[in-house]
Amino acid sequence: MTESFLPAQAFEITQLMHDLAHLPETEVDPHKYIRRTSFSIMMTATYGRRVPTWDHQDVQHMIKGREILGKVSKPGTFIEDEIPVLGKLPYCLQSSRGWAAQLAIPVHAAKMRLWKILREQQFADVAPACFGRELMMSDSMGHGLTEEDGAWIASGMSEFNGISPRSTDQEAGLVEVGTETSTITLTNLMLYLATYPKVQERALAELSDVVSDTRMPRFEDVEHLPYIRACVKEILRLHPIPTWGLKHYTDGEVSYKGTVIPKGTVVLGNTWAIHYDPSRYPNPTAFNPEHYLAHNKYAAEYAAMGDPLQRDHYAFGAGRRICPGARLAENTLNLALANLVWCFRIEPPSSEAQMDLSDEAWEDTAFRPPKPFKVRLVPRSEERLRVGDQTWAKAREEGYTLRGVRINEEGAEIR
Ligand code: HEM
Repeated sequence: MTESFLPAQAFEITQLMHDLAHLPETEVDPHKYIRRTSFSIMMTATYGRRVPTWDHQDVQHMIKGREILGKVSKPGTFIEDEIPVLGKLPYCLQSSRGWAAQLAIPVHAAKMRLWKILREQQFADVAPACFGRELMMSDSMGHGLTEEDGAWIASGMSEFNGISPRSTDQEAGLVEVGTETSTITLTNLMLYLATYPKVQERALAELSDVVSDTRMPRFEDVEHLPYIRACVKEILRLHPIPTWGLKHYTDGEVSYKGTVIPKGTVVLGNTWAIHYDPSRYPNPTAFNPEHYLAHNKYAAEYAAMGDPLQRDHYAFGAGRRICPGARLAENTLNLALANLVWCFRIEPPSSEAQMDLSDEAWEDTAFRPPKPFKVRLVPRSEERLRVGDQTWAKAREEGYTLRGVRINEEGAEIR
């Protein structure tokens, strides 16, 4: 199933390399190019719509919604979330209610927009094959799920982000969750690569044994790139999302090491404490991919083993609510990193400048993205630039096939 997305991921990453290679400025803030890539992968999978450029209207709607969600998802924003009993008061006595309702209007409108477009396509029998269409046509829609629920599951963000836009909402919306987490992780990777040239050198040396100058890295190469995969695991260890760790809830009484945890308790898995434990990760604050050279499987495979000490990290969670997108995310990150290292040397913006890795370099919000930063992307060679251009030109011309549907530059081809 996850592997069926590989053509979409490869296509978007090829565009990312092309976009980054042809920027007029020498000091580049990579964030919006990375965000377009992740967003387009998730939009294609969910709504059959590609997002070819940053000024695409879908991006603008997403940015607006994200700004609001980023603001309200910090713990403590709504007192009723912290002291749930206050949420049982009549609406007129809840101090956050009016403000939250106002903020919900534009976020809700943005979610419903895409759902309505897909619904119209479905009525006209021209809806592209995508997760949104599957959901629309599933039994769930007739049995309790409303159109709004469907729109939120497909694109919104809910309990996972610590907020609940609708009180019954239990699912995380695919588009935003998948986009935010992958974007932040890949942006963090670029920040660290610019800081750690020796890591880049080692990654490049590994790549040189596997991929020549005449073609860009492909998925088939990734299994032969243990150091590149280790870099991805290491950044997920250093920067788990969201900041508070894993919030789970006991649906029955649990006895743990002699302590009884009552039903209905929120249990917090402290990912940061686990990931910075020096007995598991020597020198835990350093970006050291060697921590993971012995971990050559996907994170989901370690999670399935059941032994907590075998796990690579807990960045994708644990238990029944573990991230279902982990494998897809690792595929995107591994391939993107292989291509970045193959195409560019990533450097601080000037020879005097140093990248900021202090606590001040990250936003103080739930997902803790890095604050804007700039890097210099020095092409590895003229030859590789040319190969990158040719690969992108060919990809644009040919498009790709996703689950039997032709996808062109604009998205799914409408029958
Ligand atoms: C680097 C990328 C990603 C990271 C770090 C990440 C991390 C997480 C974490 C920590 C959770 C909560 C798990 C728990 O509570 O135990 C989660 C849940 C979730 N993730 Fe991801 N995720 C990523 C990418 C994705 C992608 C690409 C998708 C979609 C294809 C996705 C879809 C979801 C969904 C739907 C849930 C909610 C699962 C549930 O509550 O049952 N994630 N993710």
